[in-house]
Amino acid sequence: MKTRKATAARASSSASPSPSPSSSTLPLLSNMPRKSSLFKHTLIATVFFLLAIYAFFSTFFHSPLSPPDSSSPSFLDLDRISSQENPNDSPHKVKVFMYDLPHKFTFGIIQQHSLARGGSPVPDVTTLKYPGHQHMHEWFLFSDLSRPQSDRLGSPVIKVTDPEEADLFYVPVFSSLSLIVNAGRPPGSGSDYSDEEMQNQLVDWLKGQEYWKRNNGWDHVIIAGDPNALYRGVDHVKNAVLLVSDFGRLRPDQGSLVKDVIIPYSHRISAYTGDFGVKDRKTSLFFMGNRYRKEGGKIRDLLFQILENEDDVVIKHGTQSRENRRAASRGMHTSKFCLNPAGDTPSACRLFDSIVSLCVPVIVSDSIELPFEDIIDYKKFSVFVETTTALKPGYLVSLLRKVPEEQIIEYQKAMKEVRRYYDYTHPNGTVNEIWRQVSQKLPLIKYMINRDKRLVKRELSEPNCSCLCSNQTGMISSL
Ligand SMILES: *[C@@H]1O[C@H](CO)[C@@H](O)[C@H](O)[C@H]1NC(C)=O
Ligand SMILES: *[C@@H]1O[C@H](CO)[C@@H](O)[C@H](O)[C@H]1NC(C)=O
Ligand SMILES: *[C@@H]1O[C@H](CO)[C@@H](O)[C@H](O)[C@H]1NC(C)=O
Repeated sequence: MKTRKATAARASSSASPSPSPSSSTLPLLSNMPRKSSLFKHTLIATVFFLLAIYAFFSTFFHSPLSPPDSSSPSFLDLDRISSQENPNDSPHKVKVFMYDLPHKFTFGIIQQHSLARGGSPVPDVTTLKYPGHQHMHEWFLFSDLSRPQSDRLGSPVIKVTDPEEADLFYVPVFSSLSLIVNAGRPPGSGSDYSDEEMQNQLVDWLKGQEYWKRNNGWDHVIIAGDPNALYRGVDHVKNAVLLVSDFGRLRPDQGSLVKDVIIPYSHRISAYTGDFGVKDRKTSLFFMGNRYRKEGGKIRDLLFQILENEDDVVIKHGTQSRENRRAASRGMHTSKFCLNPAGDTPSACRLFDSIVSLCVPVIVSDSIELPFEDIIDYKKFSVFVETTTALKPGYLVSLLRKVPEEQIIEYQKAMKEVRRYYDYTHPNGTVNEIWRQVSQKLPLIKYMINRDKRLVKRELSEPNCSCLCSNQTGMISSL
C-alpha cells in the first residue's frame, strides 16, 4: 500500500510543474513577430552563410571520422525507423530466431517421458508425439516457430533463420515436460533421467552461445510454464524474458511483471458450445480438484469444509485423470460459478477451463497473476474474493446466490469474447497473443542491454531502481 501511494505522490508532484513554464513561454513567442525585421533578415543571411560553408567543407574535406550515412549514426539504433520504407518487410514486427537446440532439450525429453512409462526407444525422436498435459504451451510455441514464415503471416512476430537479423532469441526447451518425466513413478521404477541434469546442461549450452554472451541473455525468451520448471537453472537465465504461469516459485529478482510474460495453462476440457443463460446450469458453485495442497493451497481444505454441505454446491476431491477430466468438464458446463482457489502456487489450470466452459470463475487466490491483463479486464467476467473473506462461513454461497441471472449472462458473453485468448489451437489465439506480449518487451530489453554495458557492480543494502520486483505490484488485492 505504502509503495503505491508513494509512487502516486511522486507522479503527481512531477506532473504539476509542467503547466507553469509553458504558460510563461507563450507570451514570449507571441512577442516575436513584433521584433525588428532587420534582425530577421540578418538571421536568414547568417543561416545561408553557414550552410554554404558547411557545403563547401563537407564536399572537399570529407572527414573519415564522420559516419558513412550521416542520417543514421551507427550508435543510434534507427534501423527500425529507416526500414519502414519497405512495407513488405513488416517493419513493426519483431524478428525472432528459434535456436535449433540439441534434441536432449526437446524431442529427447519426449523420448525420456515415454521410456519412463514403458515405451521403447525410437530411431528418430522427432517423430514422437508430445504427450498432452496442462503445460503443453511449450509444444505449441515450438510448433508455431517450426513452421515456415510463409505459413505464419498473421503472427505478431517474424521468424528469421539468420540470427544476425534477430531482435529476440527463443529457447524452445521442453522444461515443463522435463519436470514430469518421472512424476508419479515410485523411486527406482521410472527412468534414470534427471531434470536437474538437463537444466545444468541447458545453462552450460546457453552460456556457450555467441548470441547469449553478446547481451547477457537479455534478448532471449525462455519458456518455464510449470511453476517449478527450470527451478535449478533460473538464476543463470533470469535476464531472459521468462514465459511463466505465475511468480509463485520465483524470487522478486528472478521474475517480474515488467520483464516476463504470464501465459495461460493449456486447457484440457472441451469448450461449452451451448447458449448463454442458466437454464442448464443447476449447480450454483462447482469445484473438482485436489483437496490437499501445500502452501497457499491449504485454503482448499478449508473451503471444502465450509462448502461441502451446501445443497447447490458440488465440490469434489479428484486428481488428474481422463475420467476425472470428463467429470470436471460436465460439472463446469452445468454450473453457474466455478471455484478457483490457489493451488501449490497462486495459479491453476482450472481458471482457463472455467472460461472456456462459460462458468463464471470465482477466484480465491490473493497473489494470482493473470495472462494478458493489458487487454483483458477479468472483473468483467470473474468474481474475486479475498481469502479471509471467502473463509467466513456462509459468505461465498450467499454472495453468489444474490447475483442476478442477467449479470451471469453478461459475464458469459464477456467470456465468450475472450475465449480465443486461452485457446492454443486457435489460429489467432494464445500463441499469437504470447508473441504480441513478448514483442512489447523489446523496448525494455534494449534499455536493459544498453544499461547493462555500463553498470558498476556493487553490493547495495536496499533495493535500487533496477529492481523489477513482481510482488510490489501483485500484492494488493482488492474486491
Ligand atoms: C488477431 O487478434 C488481434 C488481437 O488479439 C487483433 O488485433 C488482430 O486483428 C487479429 N487478427 C486476425 C487476423 O483476426
Ligand atoms: C540493484 O538491486 C538488485 C536487487 O536488489 C541487485 O540485484 C542489483 O545488483 C542492484 N544493482 C546495482 C547496480 O547495484
Ligand atoms: C514479496 O517479496 C518479499 C520480499 O522480497 C517476500 O518476503 C514476500 O514473501 C513476497 N510475497 C509474495 C506473495 O511473493
